[in-house]
Amino acid sequence: MVEKKSSILEIPIKAVVNYLNFYYGGKVHALKDINMPIGDKQVTALIGPSGCGKTTLLRCFNRMHDLYPGNRYRGEISLEPDGINLLSNKVDPIEVRMRISMVFQRPNPFPKSIYENVAYGLRVRGETKRAIIDEKVEKALRGAALWDEAKDRLRDLASNLSGGQQQRLCIARALATDPEIVLFDEPTSALDPIATSSIEELITQLKKTVTILIVTHNMQQAARVSDYTAFMYLGELVEFDKTQTIFNHPANKRTADYVSGLFG
Ligand SMILES: Nc1ncnc2c1ncn2[C@@H]1O[C@H](COP(=O)(O)OP(=O)(O)OP(=O)(O)O)[C@@H](O)[C@H]1O
Ligand SMILES: [Mg+2]
Repeated sequence: MVEKKSSILEIPIKAVVNYLNFYYGGKVHALKDINMPIGDKQVTALIGPSGCGKTTLLRCFNRMHDLYPGNRYRGEISLEPDGINLLSNKVDPIEVRMRISMVFQRPNPFPKSIYENVAYGLRVRGETKRAIIDEKVEKALRGAALWDEAKDRLRDLASNLSGGQQQRLCIARALATDPEIVLFDEPTSALDPIATSSIEELITQLKKTVTILIVTHNMQQAARVSDYTAFMYLGELVEFDKTQTIFNHPANKRTADYVSGLFG
C-alpha cells in the first residue's frame, strides 16, 4: 500500500480530519469545518482558550460522544493506512476505542488492583490466557514507566498509588490493547512539576511506537512535547503547522496573541 503524505507534514500521516463538524444534542455547534492531518508517530498538540473545542475534537477520535444521545458528527476522520472513516455508522465504537485509547485530565483508575486495571481492556477483548495477559500487563506497565514501582504490588488497589503513579497506570491501561493512537486530555493538569516532567518524558518515548494527540493549556508543554500544533478558537481551527512555526512565526494574529499569552 502506498503511504499517504501530507504537504504540510512532509511525513506519513496516521489520520486525516476532513470537514469535521460536531453538534452537542443537535444544537450546540461545537466544531466547525475542521480540517487537519495527524502525523504518524508524531505528537500533535491542540491548544486554544477555554471552550474553543479542544476536548470535543479529541473525543471525536474515539467516538466518546456516542455515549450520549443526540450528539451528531458531520464530516469524517479517516484512519490510515486502511482509510476507514472512524465516524461512520458502520464502524463499531468499541472497536475504535481499542485502536484509539484515551487518558483523561484526572487519573481515573478503576476501583480494582493495579494488575486488573491494565488487564481490563484485554479481558474486554476476550483474552483469557493468563500467560498472555501477564505478558501484556508487564509490557504496558513498562511502556508507562511504572513497572519498577508496581511489580511487587500488582495486587494492591490502584487507589493506593500516588497521583502521578495513578496517571501512569491510566497510561498503561491505555497502552495495553496496543492502540495506534493515544489521546491525552490535559494529562498533567492535576500533577506536580516532577510528575509532570515524567509524563512529558514518557510521551516523548511513546511516540516511537504510537501516534499522540494532546490537549494542553500549558504553552511550554506544547512547545516541549509536540511536533505539530493546532490552534483552535470558537470551534474553528485557526492555524495548524509545525510547533516551531506556531510558536515562532505564526501566520495568524490571533495565534500570535494566544501563544504569547496576550489572551486565553
Ligand atoms: N456536553 C455538552 N453539551 C453541550 N455543550 C457542550 C458540552 N460539552 C461542551 N460543550 C460546549 O462545547 C464547546 C467546546 O467545549 P470543549 O469542552 O470542547 O472546550 P475545551 O476547548 O476543551 O475547553 P477547556 O479548555 O475549558 O477544557 C463549549 O462551548 C462548551 O460549552
Ligand atoms: Mg477541555
